[in-house]
Amino acid sequence: MNELFSLKDKVIVITGAAGLLGRQHADAIASAGGIPILLDLYKEPVEEYAKVLQEKYGVRAIGFQVNITKEEEIRANCTEIVQTFGRIDGLVNNAANNPKVEESSDKNFSRLENFQFHVWNDDLAVGLSGAFLCSKYYGFEISKNPKGGCILNISSDLGIIAPDQRLYQKPGLPEELQPVKPVTYSVVKAGLIGLTRYLATYWADKNVRCNAICPGGVENNQNPEFMKEVTSRIPLGRMANKDEYKGLVVFLLGDSASYMNGAIVSADGGRSVW
Ligand SMILES: NC(=O)c1ccc[n+]([C@@H]2O[C@H](COP(=O)([O-])OP(=O)(O)OC[C@H]3O[C@@H](n4cnc5c(N)ncnc54)[C@H](O)[C@@H]3O)[C@@H](O)[C@H]2O)c1
Repeated sequence: MNELFSLKDKVIVITGAAGLLGRQHADAIASAGGIPILLDLYKEPVEEYAKVLQEKYGVRAIGFQVNITKEEEIRANCTEIVQTFGRIDGLVNNAANNPKVEESSDKNFSRLENFQFHVWNDDLAVGLSGAFLCSKYYGFEISKNPKGGCILNISSDLGIIAPDQRLYQKPGLPEELQPVKPVTYSVVKAGLIGLTRYLATYWADKNVRCNAICPGGVENNQNPEFMKEVTSRIPLGRMANKDEYKGLVVFLLGDSASYMNGAIVSADGGRSVW
């Protein structure tokens, strides 16, 4: 069993690795003996966190500054990883914009009718085009690996269900000022499910599997009113802890999931079945 759930010496690229869940994915991979390659927009946080993982688990973790919307940066980084480690075994497409909501006194810019085209383009560039570009380079490298490997896309419960906009309503505000979950979040997360199915068949003959996780919201100092409302929509009655996806990440990346391909795995406390 230990061997089945081991990622020993597997070189696994994680995008958005300086974020809340990216760090958890990297920690999970390192704890299973893998070599996490941490990518994010800024150098310092990924380099520092890679050092933390090296010391904690005695693995060769490494951090790189890579903007996943820039094809040249990805191409160069992919070459550097292959030169350093000889191969790539896995990719976690995790980076996404947390859609920004610009406020003004007469409009709420999260609303569809006010949503700005440049914000739509930025959100899709990171969450969806970034995942495509990383699959194009790191995924292609995995396909050249004689053993194959695995791509894991981080979607969301909101890749499967629509956001319940009542959760974001603020009492007393007129409709045009009411905040909503931006349209880009649903589109990016549903798009990743399409990418997952495409990739699950594309390099299947090279033993490259591709699966998606649809995590529910992680508890992270949200306001009490929101917490009360959101947890009432989750059968388990609570949001996730940030470390609750680690087991699933290790399981799906390793030989433990060798026959899982094209799976869209919900991990949302049951929210999407209610
Ligand atoms: N946190 C949650 O509750 C939750 C729930 C469901 C799904 N998810 C998904 O999990 C993933 C991680 O979420 P999180 O909460 O850790 O988000 P986060 O905002 O904490 O981290 C995202 C990271 O991506 C990086 N990033 C942004 N643009 C980038 C770019 N162009 N190139 C490289 N890196 C870039 C950011 O710098 C940041 O470190 C996201 O895809 C998110 O949608 C999160």
